[in-house]
Amino acid sequence: MNKSIVVLGTQWGDEGKGKIVDLLSRDADAVARFQGGHNAGHTLVIDGVKTVLHLIPAGILQPGVECLIGNGVVLSLKALRKEIEALEEKGVAVRSRIQISPACAIIMPYHELLDRAREEAMGDRAIGTTGRGIGPAYEDKIARRGLRTSDLLNPATLGDKVAQILEFHNFVLKQRYGVDPLDLEAVLAEALELGEYFRGQVTDVSGRLYQLREQGKRIMFEGAQGSLLDIDHGTYPYVTSSNTTVGGVCTGTGVGPDAIDYVLGITKAYVTRVGGGPFPTELFDEDGARLARRGDEFGATTGRPRRCGWLDAVALRRMVKLNGVTGFCVTKLDVLDGFDEIKICTAYRLNGQTLDAPPLDASSWADLEPVYESFPGWKDSSRGATSLAQLPPNARSYLETMENLCGAPVHIVSTGPDRNENIINQYPFDI
Ligand code: GDP
Ligand code: IMO
Ligand code: MG
Repeated sequence: MNKSIVVLGTQWGDEGKGKIVDLLSRDADAVARFQGGHNAGHTLVIDGVKTVLHLIPAGILQPGVECLIGNGVVLSLKALRKEIEALEEKGVAVRSRIQISPACAIIMPYHELLDRAREEAMGDRAIGTTGRGIGPAYEDKIARRGLRTSDLLNPATLGDKVAQILEFHNFVLKQRYGVDPLDLEAVLAEALELGEYFRGQVTDVSGRLYQLREQGKRIMFEGAQGSLLDIDHGTYPYVTSSNTTVGGVCTGTGVGPDAIDYVLGITKAYVTRVGGGPFPTELFDEDGARLARRGDEFGATTGRPRRCGWLDAVALRRMVKLNGVTGFCVTKLDVLDGFDEIKICTAYRLNGQTLDAPPLDASSWADLEPVYESFPGWKDSSRGATSLAQLPPNARSYLETMENLCGAPVHIVSTGPDRNENIINQYPFDI
């Protein structure tokens, strides 16, 4: 029986990871985030009540589940405090259940300013980031000059560290972008205060995961963003700054590959993307507008409208291999209700050639032309279906086509935003 499950997005994010992590958490002991930061927006709907989580693992609304933030996360302690307080106000116990790694790279106020100033300066080449300081914080980590959670717990040395790094970033902010520099005293005071607030929540997250594993407990690893936003394997440079794919679980929490028993690849029944960058199957017609309308496609973090298009089986089957996906969870099948015809991209054309895998050089992505196969749609509703038998026959055929084209079996189908609107073919913890 699988004890440890990775849930990750196989597209450009917003596949419905939060909903599914919440669902499976009812049988988990702990949920760990391993990468990304508060650029994520994970929506949970429970009996019609919506909660959007950015940093807190989506196991938090299942009583008793332990929530861990691994070293691979870039952490805005300010954003985390706000999220904790909002949930605690609603009566959810958070501080007794959340633990963070001492090795998280910390997002500081200058990261956010730099992110926004840079995007503005890039004009129409902008990445369309969430403006949360994610890229600049990962840059500082890799450049070996960033602050970690543990630094904020050490008032004796923090002053010097902040002074040094702030001098560097203030120079760039002012000289390169004409942004007012930040005041050292204010930045330091806030960092110290946040360090104190979180002192009791900092734990050896890797060690805790080994312990849970040894005790035979069930663990979930919750991905943020999606595989096509991966810094190495995504549509570079229109990506986020972390490894969103399965390797990020090991580096981002400090566990070995033997700690992964099952990988659930979340995919929408179509595709969305928010922000800039190539999107071969993007629709600019009434079909695209219909997907956006029926899917209510607005970003959970920034509120921006999401770009919509048909399912891209070429990219998806690559992401299945890349992540070692054991099974799919197909979300938002109900959004396709009522289309006469549904298309799936089964190959690309590039410079007169047909490709059955995405190009390896990132710049070619922009020139790909999708080759579509058409499938008949269905008129009856699939919304809220809880068994395959309740689905219109053409919806069942569509799922079978996805399995055949993309190379993984469909283990779960989500048929609405609510926690209990699902069809479970194979329950990941029961296999
Ligand atoms: P995440 O970032 O992967 O957790 O996904 P988001 O929460 O950003 O976006 C997914 C959106 O789709 C949220 O508004 C969910 O409530 C909604 N959603 C999830 N599954 C379904 C589904 O099966 N059908 C419909 N109609 N909405 C869904
Ligand atoms: P969840 O976890 C969708 C996108 C941004 C931008 C690019 C880089 O909810 O699926 P960043 O702020 O990370 O430097 O922005 O990545 N992006 C997301 N798109 N869902 C997300 O998270 C995203 N997080 C970042 O729109 O294109
Ligand atoms: Mg989201």
